Amino acid sequence: MLTIEGLTRYYGKFLALDHLNLTIGDGELHGFVGPNGAGKTTTMRILATLLPASSGRAEIDGAVIGRNNRKARSLVGYMPDFFGAYDNLKSWEYLDFYARCYGVGKKDRDRMTGQLLDLVGLSDKREAYVNSLSRGMKQRLCLARALVHDPRLLILDEPASGMDPRARAEMKGILRTLKEMGKTVLISSHILPELSEMCDSLTILDHGKLVFTGTVEALSRKMNGDAPLDIRLVPGCGEAQVENAVTALRQMPCVTAITEEEPYLLRVRLQGEEDACADILRALLSAGAPVHDFHRAPMNLEKVFMEVTGHD
Ligand SMILES: Nc1ncnc2c1ncn2[C@@H]1O[C@H](COP(=O)(O)OP(=O)(O)OP(=O)(O)O)[C@@H](O)[C@H]1O
Ligand SMILES: [Mg+2]
Repeated sequence: MLTIEGLTRYYGKFLALDHLNLTIGDGELHGFVGPNGAGKTTTMRILATLLPASSGRAEIDGAVIGRNNRKARSLVGYMPDFFGAYDNLKSWEYLDFYARCYGVGKKDRDRMTGQLLDLVGLSDKREAYVNSLSRGMKQRLCLARALVHDPRLLILDEPASGMDPRARAEMKGILRTLKEMGKTVLISSHILPELSEMCDSLTILDHGKLVFTGTVEALSRKMNGDAPLDIRLVPGCGEAQVENAVTALRQMPCVTAITEEEPYLLRVRLQGEEDACADILRALLSAGAPVHDFHRAPMNLEKVFMEVTGHD
């Protein structure tokens, strides 16, 4: 559905997006994560044909951005991070207005405005003026607006940012419905755990560069493979015992680094097979190391986000 190759954007001399490569399959719910200034909005605006790329290529279902923009626009529904609303319109008029911009006929518009207001939980606000809606409600209306021309790809830039916990949960429900409708969705957020719960796959961007792209499972596997092993020796067992343990660890080819985090706590970085931990435990016990606690802490996604986007 979406193929991005070497997509690059400069603002003056500043490189905001650096040769991004990314593929999103039909019907996929794809999360786009990164800290402030990572380049998420820049990417999304390019895909929505609102910002030209400096170089590279993006293609949506056969429509090349920059070359077939008219076709691309009919395929894409874009929800910006900030949106202006026309204050003197009622909710239904607002959707009707945008649908007319896309050339949707009156009969379809009448049916569709009701359906979309229902989808985003705003049926009871049908006759309310847009400026009387709360921020979260305006966001939901804006999501409905992105759907008026029945696009195949939805590009949602932080759609849940101003929402309360209930509205965020409802947003997840709406996304599930969109997926059931066969839509492909690219959704950005700063919150990796939240996105990973609902997305099939993820891209992590930092300073305009791709850090990771793949399935949520692949990300967890990758990060858990990198998780350190903590070995606590019996407190007060003596320096010689600690030395013993460190010597045994140094002889293991799968051990890449050993640090003494605190007295009697050794933190070991590993590479290689899943059975590396079993080998290490065996070696420690054969060397007579008094192991008190031995565990590998899986990374939670918040830690993953901090780790992959962390800088010195
Ligand atoms: N119009 C512009 N002129 C100059 N620099 C810009 C412009 N728009 C964005 N940038 C810069 O490009 C970088 C990427 O910005 P972008 O808005 O794409 O990030 P983002 O990932 O959406 O961040 P956020 O999470 O804060 O929304 C930032 O360093 C930003 O300052
Ligand atoms: Mg942004």
